[in-house]
Amino acid sequence: MNVDDIERVTVLGAGSMGHGITEVVALAGYHVTMRDIEQDLVDEGYGNIEWSVEKLTEKGLVDQDPAEVMSRIDTEVDLETAVENADLVVEAAPEKMALKKDIFSDLDAFTHEDAILASNTSSLSITEIATATDRPEQVVGMHFFNPPVKMDLVEVIYGEETSDETAETTYEFVESIGKTPIYVRKDVNGFVVNSVLGPFGDEAAWMASEGVATVEEIDAAMVHRRGYPMGPFELSDLTGIDIGYHVRKEAGKPIPPIVQEKVDNDELGQKTGTGYYEYEDGDGTTYEAGQGEDVDTLRIEARIVNEAAKLIGNDVATAEAIDTGMRLGAGFPEGPCRRADKLGLDTVLDKLNELYDEYGDERYEPSDYLVSLVEDGKTGEDAGEGFYDYGGDSGERHYSTINYELSEDGLLEIELDRPERLNALNQDLMDEVVHLLDTTPKDDVRCVTFEGTGDRAFSAGADITGFAGIQPHEVEVTELFDTVAKYPRPTLAKIDGFCLGGGHELALACDLRIATEDSEFGFPEIDLGLIPGGGGTQRAMRMLTDARAKELVFRGNRIDAETAEDWGLINRAVPDDEFDETVEEFLDDLVYGAPIALEKAKKVMNEGRDQDLSAGLELESQAFGILLSTDDMMEGASAFMEKRDPEFEGK
Ligand code: COA
Repeated sequence: MNVDDIERVTVLGAGSMGHGITEVVALAGYHVTMRDIEQDLVDEGYGNIEWSVEKLTEKGLVDQDPAEVMSRIDTEVDLETAVENADLVVEAAPEKMALKKDIFSDLDAFTHEDAILASNTSSLSITEIATATDRPEQVVGMHFFNPPVKMDLVEVIYGEETSDETAETTYEFVESIGKTPIYVRKDVNGFVVNSVLGPFGDEAAWMASEGVATVEEIDAAMVHRRGYPMGPFELSDLTGIDIGYHVRKEAGKPIPPIVQEKVDNDELGQKTGTGYYEYEDGDGTTYEAGQGEDVDTLRIEARIVNEAAKLIGNDVATAEAIDTGMRLGAGFPEGPCRRADKLGLDTVLDKLNELYDEYGDERYEPSDYLVSLVEDGKTGEDAGEGFYDYGGDSGERHYSTINYELSEDGLLEIELDRPERLNALNQDLMDEVVHLLDTTPKDDVRCVTFEGTGDRAFSAGADITGFAGIQPHEVEVTELFDTVAKYPRPTLAKIDGFCLGGGHELALACDLRIATEDSEFGFPEIDLGLIPGGGGTQRAMRMLTDARAKELVFRGNRIDAETAEDWGLINRAVPDDEFDETVEEFLDDLVYGAPIALEKAKKVMNEGRDQDLSAGLELESQAFGILLSTDDMMEGASAFMEKRDPEFEGK
């Protein structure tokens, strides 16, 4: 079955995953039936969706009539009626194998023969679930993260018999509902995200059990030094300490003493009021920045990387899929493979070997794939190749935070691709843009555009989570803005959503800015005890009146796109449905315009602005003189006389 053949979707289960998936599918425009075993459950799920859609609309995150979204959802209690017309069924029933098998056996009987049968299980074998049917090739894992409305990731899991066609259609379906799929090519326990996340909590628990560091120190180190959104113990308190305990038990893995103790005392985390921290009689987490300076964070990260390497070596997932999974599914600040390439795979391997020698425990045993990379000299970014290629011996450099496309006509479109952080600028992203602009032959490029991925932001600024522990000499922010500002081709920022801080500065470093009406602009740095550091204060002063520039920088408030246009900060603020067309109109002039003239115009306008009038005029007349002798000028004049469009070649 093709993704275009999917018209009717049925979700089984109206609990937190079931109703969340139903909501996401309905928001994407599909007709969906939500089924649970009792009317009360279905009604409750339906009510939850109604509430959530209402909330999303209020917040401006969804631009649809809530009643219309709800009208696409039917509810049902009878299984056969619920699925008889379905092209895709997503099962989100409780995690019990016997129950799932019963359901899939019924699905096999009740659905039409082409229907895809997907399970949202997070822990059970797709292969085994599929044995309950006579069409295991049409059974697939489709693992959403909680809450589905907010979490962008979906793991698409192959059972042993799953056909490529089924997996590919499922993958495309996930894309069609605005989520990001990754392939999990083998049905391994924990799939990708939970497998790689495992050591985050596990190694931390061993370290605390041994007494090499305290719970607070480890959490502080992972959050404040390494940029994770939560510490391992904080995370464990949130998900429930018993969950990780049972996962280890089932996998036959040893239990760290500190975990055993918590489970024995029924201190399971937030849900029992006490876990590693006190929630009922205390204020929750108590760790602070600066507490974990001596914690050996590599011990945790080396195990995470090792787990990722095992998956790659076993053909379960690619480095890219793993990194996407960990960023979107677990909130990692960057993917573990990318991080490992920066740490040095030899450093990671040395740490594992050291731990293996010391403890003799298999959890430290280096994976074959990691060993082979290091043996082949592929030790990471410095070596030119590691998990990824950095333009070493072979091929192009891999970019982890941007996407780009260069058209034959010379339009270079750059997407800032960190939607999970509202495209916040981290060092990688800034380096990658600079590298791309520096290495793409200038003659191939006529114009550059920048935009953000996801539907919320151009960019919400510098990545605040990367600020912790950073030393002033390590900060290299100006290079990006300088490179963009001085780029010899016209640059245009396509702004749809938040355009803040460093993102705003990137937009100001561009020559032109077009925004959707619901975009917002601001310099929130002052609220962080900072000032814009990528040219924002200076460019704003030159572009706006003193009063307006200082209002933006001093107050840290956001202004809407209409005000930004009014103030002269952007070229156009347009409604959503006119955005692409307006951008196209600009690009038409920039991409097919006379390249040398555009280059000179940019240069004399930028450089002349900061000089007195006579020096500026001198720059202008020199450039004018040069242009008079170009082929482009001849072409422009001939085309005018011959009443045709000019074809400039940049000569
Ligand atoms: N750096 C790192 N992460 C950022 C970020 C930034 N500058 N801006 C947003 N994010 C992350 C959030 O932490 C959040 O991650 P989570 O889902 O893991 O919690 C995610 O992006 C979505 O943002 P969220 O804050 O939940 O969205 P919102 O609609 O409630 O608020 C903003 C949107 C832009 C108002 C808010 O994110 C914000 O104030 N960001 C910081 C802006 C800033 O100060 N920039 C200047 C930095 S110098």
